[in-house]
Amino acid sequence: MRKLALILFLGLFSGGAWSAGGSADLMDAQVDVSNEASLQRGANLFANNCMGCHSAKYVRWNALPEALGIPMTMVEESLVYGSYTPGDTINAAMRPEDAADWFGAPPPDLSLTARSRGADWVYTYLNSFYQDPDASIGWNNTLLANSSMPHVLWRLQGVPEARYEESHGELQVAGIRVPEGQQGIMTEDEYHQATRDITNFMAFMAEPVRAKRQEMGVWVIGFLVIFTVLAWFMKREYWRDIH
Ligand code: HEC
Repeated sequence: MRKLALILFLGLFSGGAWSAGGSADLMDAQVDVSNEASLQRGANLFANNCMGCHSAKYVRWNALPEALGIPMTMVEESLVYGSYTPGDTINAAMRPEDAADWFGAPPPDLSLTARSRGADWVYTYLNSFYQDPDASIGWNNTLLANSSMPHVLWRLQGVPEARYEESHGELQVAGIRVPEGQQGIMTEDEYHQATRDITNFMAFMAEPVRAKRQEMGVWVIGFLVIFTVLAWFMKREYWRDIH
């Protein structure tokens, strides 16, 4: 009985391990891979803004209709660029060698980033770009200093500047803010939602069966609970004769 309780306990809490391990400085992405509307918006933003440079080579196009709740024809019309067959994985438009030449670092494959870095990290990263006062640096990022990725979503967010705070007599970057007159086409809340949607889509990519697994987990736990009650009754029944 104690063992069963332990298994139940581990089963219940292992789900949380996926998102654990974040640092206090990260923003909360509030990932919900069962939210189809968010996944659809995220997929759209991802296809239009990220796939030029990044691949997602472990994700197949034909995995998208079920997760996003849209037909394959819509995936083809709104997300795919160029020729492809449905079983293909998601490739970048740019060759990695070229990208490395242009940006100094090759844009990494993003299939598993939401898992390796964590969803909150990705969300924070997308909300940490700023224009470096040193023009030779250009775009910079408070989370990943001197990141060679440009702020590809600047039209949406605007052109953020760094906020500095003094610590130990030195000025340090403490965050970003979009100054008056440099806003993009989105409000701050809208930009948070857009980057949350992209992060959500990346979390789905990192583990396409996650939503299904969570749904199944509820049934499995339910079954175990009912089974435990039945087993207990059965045990009582057996022992009745022995006493
Ligand atoms: C113009 C090319 C380009 C585009 C477009 C682009 N990226 Fe990047 N991205 C890069 C490069 C280059 C790096 C490597 C940065 C580094 O390590 O300095 C990178 C790194 C990243 C990382 C960090 C990965 C890691 O584990 O270090 C994430 C996350 C990311 N990009 C997400 C995105 C998302 C989401 C989009 C679309 C909104 C996007 N990128 C669009 C070039 C691009």
